[in-house]
Amino acid sequence: MSKTTSTTETDRTDTERVGTTTGETDEHVRDEWRDYSFDAPTKIGVEDLDVYYGDDHALDGVSMDIPEQSVTALIGPSGCGKSTFLRCLNRMNDRVSSARIDGSVTLDGQEVYQEGVNLVELRKRVGMVFQSPNPFPKSIRENISYGPEKHGDIDTGLLARVLGRSDEAAREDLVEQCLRDAALWDEVADRLDDNALGLSGGQQQRLCIARCLSVHPEVILMDEPASALDPIATAKIEDLIAELSQEYTVVIVTHNMQQAARISEQTAVFLTGGELVEYGDTDQIFEDPESDRVEDYITGKFG
Ligand SMILES: Nc1ncnc2c1ncn2[C@@H]1O[C@H](COP(=O)(O)OP(=O)(O)OP(=O)(O)O)[C@@H](O)[C@H]1O
Ligand SMILES: [Mg+2]
Repeated sequence: MSKTTSTTETDRTDTERVGTTTGETDEHVRDEWRDYSFDAPTKIGVEDLDVYYGDDHALDGVSMDIPEQSVTALIGPSGCGKSTFLRCLNRMNDRVSSARIDGSVTLDGQEVYQEGVNLVELRKRVGMVFQSPNPFPKSIRENISYGPEKHGDIDTGLLARVLGRSDEAAREDLVEQCLRDAALWDEVADRLDDNALGLSGGQQQRLCIARCLSVHPEVILMDEPASALDPIATAKIEDLIAELSQEYTVVIVTHNMQQAARISEQTAVFLTGGELVEYGDTDQIFEDPESDRVEDYITGKFG
């Protein structure tokens, strides 16, 4: 992956030079980050995305491309719009009545915000894991099989059973595979009928990841998935994310800088006002950010 540098020093005033380590204006810098390029194909394209909640401007003209089969971290201080951004990618913000969204989000080049998009299908392709684990108050098995059954991918209903066409074996395979992929199988294999709410927080979060995998998503959005977990459970989730990115496109919000540095290939830094201030290779963002504001944030001087 490489980041392109295109601006010159000639056409700027002294005032404009204030604000970034390279003396570029925010505007220039932002133009450059639009040019941030990577070798992998773009999975999600975001262009000039603005989100308002009533009069509150939560995201301000955000543009970024997210490459497929990789981990992209979103970092920034509380209230800067990270969750808002994440929720735009599978139109979860549609559920917020005060939210108004302008701009474009594409998935494999197809506009997500056009009329006629099937939201159930979209959210199947772009799954989400939330900060607090939210398993259904059902058995561990049902937590995994619920989605595929709802989507009609497996049928274990009465009619299917009577007709001898029940997908019970396929369901059991799927349950096992998803739990294995989420690194939970060994801990729950002998208690699949137990209520999922009886699992520990870290287990519940991995169950939610397994549930997300059960409908074969292409993108997994994670909003601080490990913030409530102990270091061991966190390490398991981090290993899992690295595994998942071999196959899926993962976009993760985290407040943990070390975590972002450990697990992501790209990092996007949002700052107050809902502005995407810098986006680039994770190593570059953490070792040599171009923006003073990003450097201050990363080194803990503000935020
Ligand atoms: N449902 C909502 N209704 C009204 N305002 C909202 C809503 N959700 C978010 N906001 C506002 O939008 C701004 C961005 O919020 P958001 O939750 O996206 O921030 P965040 O970066 O995820 O913060 P945190 O790190 O604390 O989770 C905030 O000012 C917040 O108050
Ligand atoms: Mg948030």
